[in-house]
Amino acid sequence: MKTIIEPFRIKSVEPLRQTTPEQREVFLQQAGYNLFLIDAAHILIDLLTDSGTSAMSTEQWAAMMRGDESYAGSESFVRFKRAVQELTGFTHVIPTHQGRAAERILFTVLCRPGHIVPNNTHFDTTRANIEFTGARAVDLPLPEAADTQARLPFKGNMDVAALERLIAEQGPDRIPLVMVTVTDNSGGGQPVSMANLEAVRDVTSRHRIPFYLDACRFAENCWFIQQREPGYADWTPKQIAQKMFRLADGCTFSAKKDAFANIGGFLCTNDDRLAEQEKELLILTEGFPTYGGLAGRDLEAIAVGLEEVLDPDYLRYRIASTSYLGRHIADHGVPIVEPPGGHAIYIDAGRMLSHIPRHQFPAQALAVELYRHAGIRSVEIGSVMFGDHAKHELLRLAIPRRVYTQSHIDYVVEAILEINERKDLLRGLEIVWEPRFLRHFSARFRPLNSAG
Ligand code: F0G
Repeated sequence: MKTIIEPFRIKSVEPLRQTTPEQREVFLQQAGYNLFLIDAAHILIDLLTDSGTSAMSTEQWAAMMRGDESYAGSESFVRFKRAVQELTGFTHVIPTHQGRAAERILFTVLCRPGHIVPNNTHFDTTRANIEFTGARAVDLPLPEAADTQARLPFKGNMDVAALERLIAEQGPDRIPLVMVTVTDNSGGGQPVSMANLEAVRDVTSRHRIPFYLDACRFAENCWFIQQREPGYADWTPKQIAQKMFRLADGCTFSAKKDAFANIGGFLCTNDDRLAEQEKELLILTEGFPTYGGLAGRDLEAIAVGLEEVLDPDYLRYRIASTSYLGRHIADHGVPIVEPPGGHAIYIDAGRMLSHIPRHQFPAQALAVELYRHAGIRSVEIGSVMFGDHAKHELLRLAIPRRVYTQSHIDYVVEAILEINERKDLLRGLEIVWEPRFLRHFSARFRPLNSAG
């Protein structure tokens, strides 16, 4: 059989509420054309993020009932730690309330002003937490990855030659760690090959620099390795993941992605001294090291989620369904970041709406139109988010795990193709108010009436 089906059936449902185009026009005006400011109740299909939006399984809900809420030494922590260690092999497992809390603790301990932290591409909270310590966050993606249309199997790889040059120029003492993000979210949800991780491991070992994974979407990355990298076709996703984690000295993890949890994260290390310092900070702001800002039941959900996400049937469906959305729009003329990534499809709105200049935010214009036309929420990743630093004007359609069915995705495809038919009529926006930091969350816009 060639039809790939959702490998689950549905036991509990949440109604979707329809709105009319006229109602949506009013909601847009009230929200200053910023989709972050629209009530979720007025969204039909929410592709804002794949983070914390997964559907949990019956096994996860059952495990939550076993949650041991003891302040210290809870049984849930024991189960959580066992699951994380079985997967990653790391000595120290420090629970945090989400990924960015793990980042903050790690960088506070390791980074100082004058330091530099390389990554294939830093996610925005990672960059912000590094820069908050006075260190500098540097992206080292492959030069070829700058072309959204280039179809490379491992477009998330780090440019290892550029890493070598950076270490030679700056000296290893100024680089407290090297990170690689799997999959590369800010680079289009693109995977990193095992060979690339091994090359980064070699360089960092030679210079005695700790090597960390930002492992939020590790399982999706492992599926791409199994499918695309020579030598791994007979490996299970779990075996690939175990090998991948054992190349690193530690990791940060947001359990809101590839652990199907609605909240949670962790920080791991093999360094005893570092772990002591990290736990001191943890107690200060997150909580005691056996719960770290989470309830015992959250730890249970993560432990089960880490098992489930490596099920080959799930990963086959997951990656196929993301690709389904990508291929159905790209093969009908909507330019996307090629090839489709793991958790999201990124429309190249700068290319699609080439009549709207960057300073009139083509991807925001497309996000607004997709909501107005069909009630779909997506997110701009371009000049609204990054200002003059934006490399592309992208619209991200992130797919929550196990939440939407194929007919929902068919609806999204139809809406995008209908807009593409009349794309020349779309107009840009201008910002009428913005905050000092992270303006994409709260800026307000005004639609412009004429192009150019
Ligand atoms: N690293 C990556 C690669 C991420 O994508 C995220 C979150 C984080 C770290 C931070 O984790 O949210 O648990 O604090 N990404 C979400 C997104 C928010 O929509 O892409 P967190």
